Amino acid sequence: MTYRVAIVGATGAVGEELLGVFERRNFPISELRLLASPRSAGKKIHFGGLDHEVQALGADSFEGIDFAFFSAGGSTSLEWAPRAAAAGACVIDNSSAFRMQEGIPLVVPEVNGDAVQPGPGIIANPNCSTILMVVALAPLHRLSPIERVVVSSYQAASGAGRQALIELKEQSKVVLDGGVPSASKFPEPLAFNLFPHIDVFEEEDYTKEEMKMVRETRKILGVPKLPISATCVRVPVERSHSEAIWVETKRAITPEEAREAFANADGIEVIDDPANARYPTPRQSSGTDPVYVGRIRKDISHPKGLTFWICGDQLLKGAALNAVQIAEAVNLVKR
Ligand code: A2P
Repeated sequence: MTYRVAIVGATGAVGEELLGVFERRNFPISELRLLASPRSAGKKIHFGGLDHEVQALGADSFEGIDFAFFSAGGSTSLEWAPRAAAAGACVIDNSSAFRMQEGIPLVVPEVNGDAVQPGPGIIANPNCSTILMVVALAPLHRLSPIERVVVSSYQAASGAGRQALIELKEQSKVVLDGGVPSASKFPEPLAFNLFPHIDVFEEEDYTKEEMKMVRETRKILGVPKLPISATCVRVPVERSHSEAIWVETKRAITPEEAREAFANADGIEVIDDPANARYPTPRQSSGTDPVYVGRIRKDISHPKGLTFWICGDQLLKGAALNAVQIAEAVNLVKR
């Protein structure tokens, strides 16, 4: 079976990663339609040995399309994803537009792959920090139900888009040259700095990014009231998000048990050798598929607490790779 595939946002950071993931995983594509804003129409993108011309997103963009991958922001998804689904496509949407809607599956294949539906319709790809965290939470949750999660994220500049990464580099140069950097993509200068502010502030002074981690994790794990508290921090890292995670489980899970569960879980690689100063880092995880877990230890502040550190490429497992894995899961259900 081969598929006619459309990418909305083909010229963006995630769009570019999607093409790389298709190629690496030999996703069976018979036709590729690259869509973006009118600004990019006519631009050529090389894929599968051919140059493909970028088209402006429009009324006939989804005719005959089997899979439509959306990564062009929430408003584009809100307007166009339902139209793509109505035209018969299975939409895999990377925006937050539909994630919390009832009846829309929110899927991380290693965790709740059985939630995919085969027909036309919308499947939501979760927030990047959420995806990385739930991959690590799932094997613990299978050992003993998780009763509380506290997480602090350390999120890379490229998570805010291609322009944001360019801004970090420009700011860094200004600082190294002795100047005072200014910010436009970020609320504060990020070079040689960090700030606990990703997306807008919402209820009870949490940010929208933090509340995405709360709400989406509950939906994916199927525990609607799971107590979760997140602090999301932007750090001057180029690529790959990191997270310090504390969990409390129904019964205590030992670090040894957790290490074995992580090691046996799909999508996880353990790097946990404190004696030799080996642990995951964003630099080491950039450009790779797994969620890396390390610093696995007892939370000495709580009898049923465990704490650990994760890193993962937010453009791959946090976005493009997870989206393609969802399509692969749909493909399996269809057969
Ligand atoms: P374009 O390059 O033509 O602006 P990023 O997240 O890296 O900033 O990328 C955003 C992606 O979404 C780009 O491919 C961008 O296309 C695309 N995009 C933004 N606005 C629209 C729109 N109104 N219609 C279609 N594509 C859009």
